[in-house]
Amino acid sequence: MEVPDEYNAKLSMRKAVYMNNPPVHPPVYAIDESVCKFHDCEECVKACPTQAIELDQKPEEVTINVGSIVVATGFEEFDSSTIKEYHYNDYPDVITNLELARMVDGFGPTGGVIVRPSNRQPAKKIVFIQCVGSRDRRWKPYCSSICCMISLKHATLIKSAYPEADISVCYIDIRTTGREHEYYYEQAREMGIKFVKGRPTEISRDPKTGKLVVDTEDALLHRLLELEADLVVLAPAMVPSEGTKELAEILGIDIDQDGFYKEYNAKLRPTETKLRGIYICGGTIFPKDAPTTSLQAHSAAVKAAKFLNKGKIIKDQRTAVINQDYCGDCEFCPVTCPYHAITLEDKGEDHFAAKVSDLLCEGCGVCVGTCPQNAIELRHSKPEQMTAQMNGILSLNESAEPLILAICCSECGHTAVDSSGMAMMEYPASVRVMKVPCTGILQIHQFLEAFKAGAQGVMVVGCKSDGCHYEVGSQKAEKKVDLAKTLLNEYGIESERLEMFQFVFIEGDKFAEAAQMMSERLKKLGNLKLMIGP
Ligand code: FES
Repeated sequence: MEVPDEYNAKLSMRKAVYMNNPPVHPPVYAIDESVCKFHDCEECVKACPTQAIELDQKPEEVTINVGSIVVATGFEEFDSSTIKEYHYNDYPDVITNLELARMVDGFGPTGGVIVRPSNRQPAKKIVFIQCVGSRDRRWKPYCSSICCMISLKHATLIKSAYPEADISVCYIDIRTTGREHEYYYEQAREMGIKFVKGRPTEISRDPKTGKLVVDTEDALLHRLLELEADLVVLAPAMVPSEGTKELAEILGIDIDQDGFYKEYNAKLRPTETKLRGIYICGGTIFPKDAPTTSLQAHSAAVKAAKFLNKGKIIKDQRTAVINQDYCGDCEFCPVTCPYHAITLEDKGEDHFAAKVSDLLCEGCGVCVGTCPQNAIELRHSKPEQMTAQMNGILSLNESAEPLILAICCSECGHTAVDSSGMAMMEYPASVRVMKVPCTGILQIHQFLEAFKAGAQGVMVVGCKSDGCHYEVGSQKAEKKVDLAKTLLNEYGIESERLEMFQFVFIEGDKFAEAAQMMSERLKKLGNLKLMIGP
């Protein structure tokens, strides 16, 4: 059985038994069950010298016990047929860069000759269209980052092999980040490849000659152009590969707004996820070129090896615990937990109770701040410990300044306070710093407790709302502070006495300024009128 070979852009045929990509690992053949005639044929079974083919083999689910996972699922081309005006799939001579790559390959289906798929004649006029689906709010708003270099590579390779080829590249902006990439662009222009700044509006086809015409504008020369072409090559956006979302749900890792996997920290831990032992690399994080992908693959492999080499996981006990006597059937905490560490156990008769996985729990306390029954607490930061700490640090104020409680998260919030100290910045001595794992742990009644304990003002100091080290804590704290302000008004306490601040860890100057500002504000407000004695 022979069918068009998808790997070779359907420019060649392959058998129903095939190995589509020579460097594939492991180098074994596959059977295309959509075309195989199985027992009506059995030619491959007869031919195989090692009797390796079992035609009755059935798909099976296999459970593999692993200590670490590296996710390298890559990206794929955006479906260009979505953009109707480019007629991909309607006109055979409109192809994508991936399909052109097979033609450019000397070992490919055309032996390196660039042909029009419609008639296999050499293509002499080639138009590249950049940003097909990328940087387009209708489809994918982001820049796919590598398509300019891919088109430049193809255009220069073709021009070097066929200097008489007439090649134009229609672009919005040519982006050549990377070492020596700009020289590549310069070289392409020197070779005579034409660059037209403008996004083409339509590709049409002369029904008689089969020639394509690309309607575009030249934004630099302010004129409309009709570019004739034998072959149009689209540079589609790069999108997450199929199944990325489903796999993210299974593994419990996050995806970003564009559907790619989210790293733990783009600068410092770019191949780690929020889950220990699960690493990501390459195009699964965002489209990138081969050298960067290779670099990330090395990083992920080394991290996985280092993780496994220890042979054991050391996990501290700073985790959440559930008081089963209070836990009701509300289901809030499993949804809130950024680490999927809380599950619900069926207790029968339509009742269930929350259960925390000590291995997955990172001890942020976001569940504590969310639980309406006060049924969860952190082992290392129990409510009574927090109250005792609050009372302790607010018990004495020898300065004339109003006493301020700054409740800081252990990450950016507290580090910003440290940064202000290290930079010898000044803030009022009456500001008392209390550290919590994440501002997401806070509950509204704790703000009232702070006022009750003697604070004239309360600052909640956390990470940026999209930069919380525990994902959602800072956003949740922001909402709680807003709600608490309304309640404070009800209790006759000026809402300006409570404020949330969100900093990056190096913003010590901003913390010092905020503390100064709060102090000035409280002085103007005067003493808290409705203060209840401790
Ligand atoms: Fe800083 Fe969550 S860790 S607010």
